[in-house]
Amino acid sequence: MVDKTFETVKIEREGGVTFLIMNRPEKRNAMSPQLHFDMEDAVDSLWHDEQTQVLVLTGAGPAFCAGQDLRLYFRGTESDPVTQYKAHEASDNWRWLKLTRFPKLTIAMVNGYCFGGGLTQMAACDLAISADEALFGASEINWGILPGGNVSWIMTLLMSYRHAMHYAVTGDTFDGKRAVEIGAVNYSVPLANLREETIALATRMMKKNPAAVRFTKEAIRTVRTMSEVDARDYLAAKSAALMFRDKEGGRQQGMRQFLDEKSFRPGLGDYQRRPSGSDTKE
Ligand code: ACO
Repeated sequence: MVDKTFETVKIEREGGVTFLIMNRPEKRNAMSPQLHFDMEDAVDSLWHDEQTQVLVLTGAGPAFCAGQDLRLYFRGTESDPVTQYKAHEASDNWRWLKLTRFPKLTIAMVNGYCFGGGLTQMAACDLAISADEALFGASEINWGILPGGNVSWIMTLLMSYRHAMHYAVTGDTFDGKRAVEIGAVNYSVPLANLREETIALATRMMKKNPAAVRFTKEAIRTVRTMSEVDARDYLAAKSAALMFRDKEGGRQQGMRQFLDEKSFRPGLGDYQRRPSGSDTKE
């Protein structure tokens, strides 16, 4: 597939891993209206892309994302309500609504500065790997506003109440190692190894049953706000839907390989995926 080209976004591919790159390095990937429009278009263009097995979101140059562009997103649209509205919509759509629902596993690869509104798309990805050297911050307080959009909300989602309050009211920065300690990212590695480690994780995930990965990530996101009773009911329905949607019959393959063939241990690794049709149904 020939990828679309964009003014402020780049798409790169390595095997089944698709890198979606915020590409305004000279502005530390601050999010202009154009970047929001390009990103919404780019995410849409990858939605049904069969080559994409894992989507990695990252930034070009020394930043992941320096937040909303103060000049172009805020000041530049003050007297242009139409563009302001369109930019706000696109901003919410790609950074949260579309990324959180993306059908494949998503990984935020935080290569550098991640400030303000940039935290939203980092949190929207299913997993996040940071460079040790990356610098995070809810800097809004430093210029007299509060963390808006959904940033205050995602801070309390990602970290404890105490940490969310601390980093929001002080605007203190934290590096990749601290981001791991407070639960904002899964792990951090030296910047020099970041891409390699991200590809290693993505490659490991590509060996798993794609329908099970998709349904599992949707389940984990959804049950957070449910009661235990509601979650049980939802998970029963979700499990039934997974069996209906899983074209490779993973449950049957896994059961047979463990119980009959004794060829793997589900506690210790993945079942051997075989093309659909080669499976004998239970
Ligand atoms: N909005 C607009 N322009 C920005 C932004 C931003 N959020 N961040 C960086 N830039 C621009 C700078 O103005 C500069 O442009 P110029 O070359 O035309 O002067 C260019 O990007 C490079 O920025 P520097 O500050 O020179 O780069 P440096 O590497 O020294 O610092 C840093 C990077 C720490 C990210 C700094 O630019 C910064 O503090 N940016 C603002 C971060 C922030 O507070 N983001 C939250 C915004 S609010 C929100 O998202 C809701």
